[in-house]
Amino acid sequence: MSPTFKSEIIDLLSLNDTPSINLLLQNAYQVKNSVLGKTVFLRGLIEFSNICVKECYYCGIRKSNSKVDRYLMSEEEILNSAMWAFENGYGSIVLQSGERNDKKFVSFVENILLKISEATSNKLRITLSCGEQSKETYKRWFEAGARRFLLRIESSNKIIYENIHPSDHNFNRRVKCLLTLKEIGYQLGTGVMIGLPNQTIEDLANDIIFFRSLDADMIGMGPFIPHADTPLFEQDIKIVGNKNELYNLSLKMVAVTRIMLPKINIAAATAFQALYPFGREKALLAGANVFMPNISEVKYRKDYRLYETKPCVDENSIDCLQCVEKRIEGIGESIAYFEWGDSQHFEERIYNN
Ligand code: 5AD
Ligand code: FES
Repeated sequence: MSPTFKSEIIDLLSLNDTPSINLLLQNAYQVKNSVLGKTVFLRGLIEFSNICVKECYYCGIRKSNSKVDRYLMSEEEILNSAMWAFENGYGSIVLQSGERNDKKFVSFVENILLKISEATSNKLRITLSCGEQSKETYKRWFEAGARRFLLRIESSNKIIYENIHPSDHNFNRRVKCLLTLKEIGYQLGTGVMIGLPNQTIEDLANDIIFFRSLDADMIGMGPFIPHADTPLFEQDIKIVGNKNELYNLSLKMVAVTRIMLPKINIAAATAFQALYPFGREKALLAGANVFMPNISEVKYRKDYRLYETKPCVDENSIDCLQCVEKRIEGIGESIAYFEWGDSQHFEERIYNN
């Protein structure tokens, strides 16, 4: 990587006057429009369990947070949510949970995947977001019908990674998981949090370079929002002084990632909306092209707060879909209903192999 190239990314991420920031976001949006068109892909997000064996210092559902009521949706509830998504034109769903590696959980997920694949004749694209697993588990889930996997690196700076996780986490193991997922044939999603303690603009530039060197198909990233019941709550946030700066920096990250990687899918992360009501739309206007409405049953949503002020906790799936339609049409984009929405980058990667 040439130093000039990296310094250009740093310059863009450092823009801090409103007209220059707006110009950057508009440029990224133009890139998105000309390469991918004015359409947004939907993924119905099913947060099927908040039971977690990990203790990530930033996350509201970490194992030792005793304020959270733990749940695992039943097979029937998950299947019902998936079928609701399928029938309502969501081409794709994301099954997300806390991390568990026990045999019972691995089989539970495998069985759900088989059931959904069968009930939809393999016509619903299924993404998993269930953390670090063995190669064997990733393979079993792939064979049962999962085709995409989201596993954020959280920060490509090893020291930051170690500072936000306990010592049983391992940066190299995380990277290995990403490589294994790709080797198995998954469409690979990763991403980072923006505004972590001690994170610099250079770290964020390195994150974008990491996405590129990993050859990721999908990126999900958003502002770090401290949660009161987690160890990171008290720590200073060094690079971003206030909410507005954090918001702008997060939007700039989306924009520069889009300019650098025009053909990948980028999610308008929910955390944007936790900062400002129109945060997710703004992320779309900065180059994101994927929206992930929550379709979990409402009774479980309050217990899946990874961070505070998480939106859509009280809306049911129908209200959420109508709201999403309005949000997306409101910015002049349209929803690609009944489409899988694989990233162009992935399609070309497969075609060229
Ligand atoms: N603020 C913002 N994002 C968070 N996540 C977890 N906790 C927080 C937080 N406090 C993100 C992580 C994780 C994804 C599922 O949610 O990046 O990978
Ligand atoms: Fe869920 Fe608006 S996006 S209620």
